[in-house]
Amino acid sequence: MNHSEVLQLAQKAIDQYLRQLHDQGVGKSQTPLALKEQLNLSLTATAQSDFQLQQDLQNYLKHAVGTLDPRFMNQLFSGLQPWALAGEMLAAVTNTTMATYEASPVATLMERELVQHLCGFAGWKTGDGIMVTGGSNANLVGMLMARNKLFPDYKKTGVSGARLVAFVSEEAHYSFGKAANIMGLGTDNIRAIAADAAGRMSTAALKAAIQQSRAAGEHPFFVGATAGTTVLGEFDPIDELSLIAREEKLWLHVDGAWGGSVLLSRKHRHLMSGIEKADSLGWDTHKMLGTGLVSSFFLTPHANALRTSHGGGGADYIFHASDAGSWDLGPSSLQCGRKADAIKVWFAWRALGDDGLETYVDALFANAQTAATLVKQTAGLELVCEPTSLNVCFRVKRPHHVASAQWHRMLREQLMNKGQAMVNMATRKDDSFIRLITAHPGQNEKILKSLLSDLLKAAEELNH
Ligand SMILES: Cc1ncc(COP(=O)(O)O)c(C=O)c1O
Repeated sequence: MNHSEVLQLAQKAIDQYLRQLHDQGVGKSQTPLALKEQLNLSLTATAQSDFQLQQDLQNYLKHAVGTLDPRFMNQLFSGLQPWALAGEMLAAVTNTTMATYEASPVATLMERELVQHLCGFAGWKTGDGIMVTGGSNANLVGMLMARNKLFPDYKKTGVSGARLVAFVSEEAHYSFGKAANIMGLGTDNIRAIAADAAGRMSTAALKAAIQQSRAAGEHPFFVGATAGTTVLGEFDPIDELSLIAREEKLWLHVDGAWGGSVLLSRKHRHLMSGIEKADSLGWDTHKMLGTGLVSSFFLTPHANALRTSHGGGGADYIFHASDAGSWDLGPSSLQCGRKADAIKVWFAWRALGDDGLETYVDALFANAQTAATLVKQTAGLELVCEPTSLNVCFRVKRPHHVASAQWHRMLREQLMNKGQAMVNMATRKDDSFIRLITAHPGQNEKILKSLLSDLLKAAEELNH
């Protein structure tokens, strides 16, 4: 079969999947072994028939988790904008790489447009940026840029002897540790700064840690603030952190993988006040804006800093000196071949505009407030804290003989086994709770109420 014939089959299966989405919901969870038993996934020496492949298409969709359904409240993304899906399909069918303008002319211009537009929301009139493989990668890029700016020789010579130290909140995402590992800095050299009761990095603790580090002969180089922490959805005080970073001559990176999208909202952008003073920002639009995984940006106000930091090699065969070549994004990236992620984000943005996206974000925030109010009104549930953004964290009353982590794990598993909803649990400072994320624009009071009622029923069942 040719592309069109195969696509027609896929299209039919996808249409059916989308039509059944509401009835199927998130789907019932199965153990890996049970799932393996039901599916024949073996790769064989001989080709499979088109009929079998059609079955395979349907089987994949049948068992996929319904992340487009509003009952998917598990992770820091949910739902998918329809125009983003169309953009993703264009990226798939044109199957190209973002390394050079010549291979991806339109997508390169789209990515550049997006980068400039997003930089504008950070208050940077002329910025630079690149799409990356996710927020984790954006944090790595931020650390690498910081190292190469403060210690330009290390790009060539490597870090030898000096102990480079980075500071992030104890609430920060684990990817900072991974970045330190990849960069050869050592995970011990990521210092976890205490957060206050609300979960915001303590500026006093940061100052003290920097002084202590300098006194020990180390080389502080990086402060990583978080805009939208993974568990509580809290925002570090960027304005105050920027003063410290400036005074101490450290690079200030803001991990806005989750919360960066508040910049679109006049109502909520105050959470990131001071962002214009940061040196870099990571921002996943696939998380709060439903632009499809992966849509992730690394942005910086420092013109050409990306090429300087990451560039090197490739002039012999891929990056040719020409007018068009100066538009190549490859030298600014850590990748060579790179998927055209910009297309889906550009289409989603084009379809809603800044105004539509602002309404989108504001509606998600309103849903978080609705969820928190419902929790407070429901006996047997206890809010961990008022939600600052879209993370609604609460405890479900438990029998004393069951540990909190185990209890909340069992509760979510009960919901998943029945296919009622997918919601996560988290443990923070010896406290475990349900973490409900209101990232889907289709969530409403009815859905949220039903989730809470399912949780309470699950608690009752587990109690017996
Ligand atoms: C605050 C924060 N930063 C970074 C990441 C990593 O993003 P990604 O999954 O796109 O690598 C996450 C993931 O949830 C996150 O919550």
